[in-house]
Amino acid sequence: MRNILVTGALGQIGSELTLKLRERYGHDNVIASDIKRLQNSELEEWQPYYIADCTHANELADIVKEQQIDTIYHLAAILSAVAERDPLNAWNINVNGLLNVLEVSKSFGCAVFTPSSIGAFGPSTPSINTPQDTIQRPETMYGITKVSGELLCDYYHKKYGIDTRGLRYPGLISYKTLPGGGTTDYAVEIYYEAIRKQKYTCYLNPGTYLDMMYMPDAIKAAIELMEANPDNLIHRNAFNVSAMSVAPEDIANEIKTIYPDFSIEYKSDPVRQAIADSWPNNMDDSCACEEWGWKPSFNLKTMTKDMIEHLTIKLH
Ligand code: NAD
Ligand code: SER
Repeated sequence: MRNILVTGALGQIGSELTLKLRERYGHDNVIASDIKRLQNSELEEWQPYYIADCTHANELADIVKEQQIDTIYHLAAILSAVAERDPLNAWNINVNGLLNVLEVSKSFGCAVFTPSSIGAFGPSTPSINTPQDTIQRPETMYGITKVSGELLCDYYHKKYGIDTRGLRYPGLISYKTLPGGGTTDYAVEIYYEAIRKQKYTCYLNPGTYLDMMYMPDAIKAAIELMEANPDNLIHRNAFNVSAMSVAPEDIANEIKTIYPDFSIEYKSDPVRQAIADSWPNNMDDSCACEEWGWKPSFNLKTMTKDMIEHLTIKLH
């Protein structure tokens, strides 16, 4: 792996993954791209940076050719709650954008990392200890695009030999960049509001268990999977990975150990509640452990301490 392109680099994952890849493989060997124009103040931090729309294959092909890219981390996508507001746009970006990445990778021989999600499961999936291989009948457009993406990546690997790999990420919690409009965003917002107001109104009901992961573990998982020995990868495009299964009150109780006056109340948003109720409570990630050694470093307690330390600096 020498020359890397990150699409969706300004998003919640990309803004941290790009920096980590630059530390690991050399700053100038990692090209950031996104559909957004950078502010002048951001230019220095982000170069080398390209504006590229993943639904325009020629824009991706030009960068791959010019920069001799051999690996693409394809993060450009629309998340679950936003996708429900404009399903056709979500299909276009999540599926046609990925198809463009796969076609360009076929032409230029690139390896491809694509995140799937807990959203690739639906209400008929076993929600406790959700197996790696199980029923996938999601009822959201986001989930439909994620299952399609998993299948497309399998297809391009089997038919054309493209080195496609991917993870079913749970909800990701981080302090650098705000999440892009998902169902699990509450698990980030709650920390901001704990520091700002010592109280939070949650749009999911108590008892809504979902898999979560702290961003350093999400970044570690992506890099370790892409560096893993391909001979060991049976489930190469859709590994279940998790670090913790939590409900809103679990995060609130952990925050209270640091801010005893913190309080949470609940005002359910029917759209996001229905999506969350259709996703697993906790996934079985034993295939990731066995096939490439997945092991998270953060649990709820260590993540909460780290989040609050970093956000306190950021928000004051
Ligand atoms: P995000 O919304 O924070 O960032 C996505 C980025 O893609 C944004 O910067 C956006 O400007 C860019 N983008 C949107 N449309 C584009 C287009 N047409 N061309 C190029 N760029 C475009 O998302 P994220 O949280 O960083 O997620 C990255 C990937 O990880 C997605 O595939 C997402 O489904 C997956 N994922 C994320 C989570 C999570 O909790 N963050 C969980 C599971 C899976
Ligand atoms: N965090 C993501 C979302 O809620 C899960 O894929 O959309």
